[in-house]
Amino acid sequence: QQLKLSLEQIEKGGYEHFMLKEIFEQPKSIHDTLRGRLLVEEGIIKMAGIWDHLERLNQAQKITIIACGTSWHAGLIGEYLIEEFARIPVEVEYASEFRYRNPIITDKDIVIAISQSGETADTMAAIKMAKEKGAFVYGICNVVDSSISRVTDAGSYTHAGPEIGVASTKAFTSQLTVLSLIALKLGKHNGHLSNQEFMKLITELDALPKKVEEVLESTHENVKEIAKHFIGAQNFLYLGRGYNFPAALEGALKLKEISYIHAEGYPAAEMKHGPIALIDENMPIVIIAPKQGHYDKIVSNVQEIKARKGRVVALVNKGDTQVASVADFVIEFPETSECFSPIIASIPLQLLAYYIAVYRGANVDQPRNLAKSVTVE
Ligand code: AGP
Repeated sequence: QQLKLSLEQIEKGGYEHFMLKEIFEQPKSIHDTLRGRLLVEEGIIKMAGIWDHLERLNQAQKITIIACGTSWHAGLIGEYLIEEFARIPVEVEYASEFRYRNPIITDKDIVIAISQSGETADTMAAIKMAKEKGAFVYGICNVVDSSISRVTDAGSYTHAGPEIGVASTKAFTSQLTVLSLIALKLGKHNGHLSNQEFMKLITELDALPKKVEEVLESTHENVKEIAKHFIGAQNFLYLGRGYNFPAALEGALKLKEISYIHAEGYPAAEMKHGPIALIDENMPIVIIAPKQGHYDKIVSNVQEIKARKGRVVALVNKGDTQVASVADFVIEFPETSECFSPIIASIPLQLLAYYIAVYRGANVDQPRNLAKSVTVE
């Protein structure tokens, strides 16, 4: 028992929990995901899985992304990326829904299955169905040689390394990194992305591991303090727009999973269609408000919340004054293109969920009722 305990201690590398270790591993896991694929000086993205099937992918009638949980959130951001840069229509479906309806899928379709574990039963069943309908299935998995990586027609690994904490952190940001690479590569080869734009975006992508390191260093202590104010919260609302709407969903899922506080993610503009009724001084609202991406609209959302006395935790870019001046708590993160901002914004959201859960005495690495891979329906 003692030996087992100290082995675990070694595996945690000095961190109190695997989840915290994995949050802090993200500069490396994103770097590993980009390594050997993103060659900025040569101006290319090298991905054998994409290159070998480039024509089929770029001629797809539509792409359907299937996944569950956090991987589904990554898929939503993948939709924004692929539609913006490669201009191919994308749908994102919960694998568990997809498998039990009769979706219109033909041999002209591409299905992208995203799974950290590569073992999720619903995603496996959805892949099987897509293949029976003739679709070409591309896998994005983290676990090498997992069941999903073996049944898909082609794929890319995320290279995040083993993820032990039940709440997915580094696998999520690596999934976003792979999806960014795919979208940019497809867009470059099908002509929808100019060389100049492509170069600008890959240069930014290349800078992400550094920016993630920066956000970890600059926000860690601040988020740890902010978390103390919310130990007793019973509900949370997470808001974001555009690329950061799925990031809001993911932030809310992280909090739910490990702290057992009810949290909902919403597109900020949908607030007035219902959730605004919930806002009062007892409702904390986390709002993702980067400079690039509907900033002015977000400013007015924050004002609407403050007018109703909601407590605002705002994630803003460094140097922001407008949102920062009205928010109750401010978390600053470095600026990047809107399309990559969820990768950076997710980091303080992971930390916020982590510390709230730790202060509440929850078992963050193994939350109740949850399994790391859901191999049953
Ligand atoms: C993430 O924090 C969750 N534990 C869960 O939603 C997970 O993302 C989901 O079960 C899908 O897992 P997969 O990526 O291994 O397929």
